[in-house]
Amino acid sequence: MASLRVISVTGGKGGVGKTHLVANLGVLAVQRRLRTVIIDADVGLASAHVLFGLTPTLHVGDVLDGAELDEALMSTPQGVALLPAASGERSLTYLSDEQRQLMRAVWEQLAERFDVVLIDCPPGIGRDALFSASAADRVLLLATPEPTSLLDAATLAHALHHHTAIRTIDVVINGARSDRQGQLAFGKLQACSALAPTPKLSYLGSLPDDHNIRRAAALSQPLVTLASASPAARAMERLATSLLDGNTPEHLLANSGGSLLGFERRLREADARRVG
Ligand SMILES: Nc1ncnc2c1ncn2[C@@H]1O[C@H](COP(=O)(O)OP(=O)(O)OP(=O)(O)O)[C@@H](O)[C@H]1O
Ligand SMILES: [Mg+2]
Repeated sequence: MASLRVISVTGGKGGVGKTHLVANLGVLAVQRRLRTVIIDADVGLASAHVLFGLTPTLHVGDVLDGAELDEALMSTPQGVALLPAASGERSLTYLSDEQRQLMRAVWEQLAERFDVVLIDCPPGIGRDALFSASAADRVLLLATPEPTSLLDAATLAHALHHHTAIRTIDVVINGARSDRQGQLAFGKLQACSALAPTPKLSYLGSLPDDHNIRRAAALSQPLVTLASASPAARAMERLATSLLDGNTPEHLLANSGGSLLGFERRLREADARRVG
């Protein structure tokens, strides 16, 4: 059995393009005959299902309350499975012992049934954001070239280093005018994250600003199926090639994939210390 690849897509602030990237990488993974599931971990602002034109009835929170995984898993027209997020204030990090058991069982089922798990993380450096990012063995950090976005991304990189076992991060610059601008923005991100330890930052690539993305959102269809020749779709295809084709690069083995429950335990211990 091929080993499971868990990829999380995260960003220092909202609206940097995480959900579009996750949805399109999902479709591109399926096109590579990889069984793929998207977990929408963006509790509160769930939106991955919207990009596929789906209306969920159950979500990840219901599964943690005992619903069967199959009842909550949705199938997109493009063949990607989707586990919708709980909308509202539901957190994934404050779990009872029973819910933790359920989460472990769900994780095992996903590992058996899929080749690729893509996690759409909530933005920022809150518990849920760090928790969902740290479940992956490959973390994509999305930022735009604006200085504030790069600063927020640096802050998230510091937080990931401090609170999780993630030791390498792949950076994607969204909304770049050219790949050159993407690389320059990556250089600035490295400069502004040099003040405190971060995981090793690698530049994975850039996505151009492309009006077709807004069109795809309006039509509830992933860009790579709606306009596969558009500039952003081509850039996503390049990202998918480096992420999904070939073996996991050696340096990524330093990340501890599937550390979801270990991280959750750590947060709980930290809480207990604070209370006591
Ligand atoms: N490369 C791009 N070109 C043009 N528009 C884009 C691009 N990437 C994202 N957008 C637009 O930016 C907005 C935010 O995108 P998206 O929802 O994917 O971001 P997000 O990081 O998931 O946001 P949130 O943190 O709110 O979940 C959307 O309106 C989307 O259409
Ligand atoms: Mg989103």
